[in-house]
Amino acid sequence: MMLEVTNVTGGYEKAEVIHDISIEVERKEFVSIIGPNGSGKSTLMKTIVGFLKPFSGQIIFDNKRIDKKSPNKIAKLGIGYVPQLNNVFSSLTIHENLEMGAYLPSKDRYSYSELYDLFPAIKGREAEKAKNLSGGERQMLALARAMVNKPALLCLDEPTAALAPKLVREILNKLIEIRESGTTILLIEQNAKQSLKISDRGYVLAIGKKVHEGPSRDLLSSQKIQEHYLGIKKVSTINNS
Ligand SMILES: Nc1ncnc2c1ncn2[C@@H]1O[C@H](COP(=O)(O)OP(=O)(O)OP(=O)(O)O)[C@@H](O)[C@H]1O
Ligand SMILES: [Mg+2]
Repeated sequence: MMLEVTNVTGGYEKAEVIHDISIEVERKEFVSIIGPNGSGKSTLMKTIVGFLKPFSGQIIFDNKRIDKKSPNKIAKLGIGYVPQLNNVFSSLTIHENLEMGAYLPSKDRYSYSELYDLFPAIKGREAEKAKNLSGGERQMLALARAMVNKPALLCLDEPTAALAPKLVREILNKLIEIRESGTTILLIEQNAKQSLKISDRGYVLAIGKKVHEGPSRDLLSSQKIQEHYLGIKKVSTINNS
């Protein structure tokens, strides 16, 4: 198993938000996490990537215990992260944004030219300020920044939030491409149906607990899941400032 989250309880200061959650991701798998607003999806992911420390439980990545490590250490071990909010530095250029994400020596990561080839949306625009990008381009930049260190596991928190359907498709297609090139993916999505359609397995969170799990196709065909979690129309927010 590449990532093993075992009985993790956690949250913020004294606010316990996620309760006794266990999830696993196998190498080369594509796993979705879905669930209503406020169900603890982002809290769980922030705990995995080290921005929050679990109150109890443990997290193992690549046979190493990571739940007491710093986000920086965890990134260096091979986990890339696209946060839900503020995932690019608006006042910096595209190139500076990529540089900010490059923790590893150049021999261990993508070269910038390789990265621009992978993300044509930002190619040839190195000197442009990130604030001038459209919503979709901005998410591509955030994705490129998370990919710079060639992560073995890419964690994404609602990378399609607030995007038009065509752009949602573009981002999801890019994730399929990244997965096909050998990267393992853990994806939180508000577009739950689309996310399950492209993933191998899924977890459903509600009020901070894991309430369902299984192969994505089983979740998609379950009437209960359809009624409770796939019909939800939700208004999501992304900070575009
Ligand atoms: N910084 C914080 N301090 C205290 N409580 C927080 C903080 N951030 C989030 N919470 C609370 O934790 C709970 C879960 O929030 P979280 O952001 O993990 O949900 P989510 O499933 O990602 O929701 P969304 O779909 O809206 O992104 C919510 O009740 C929220 O109010
Ligand atoms: Mg969230």
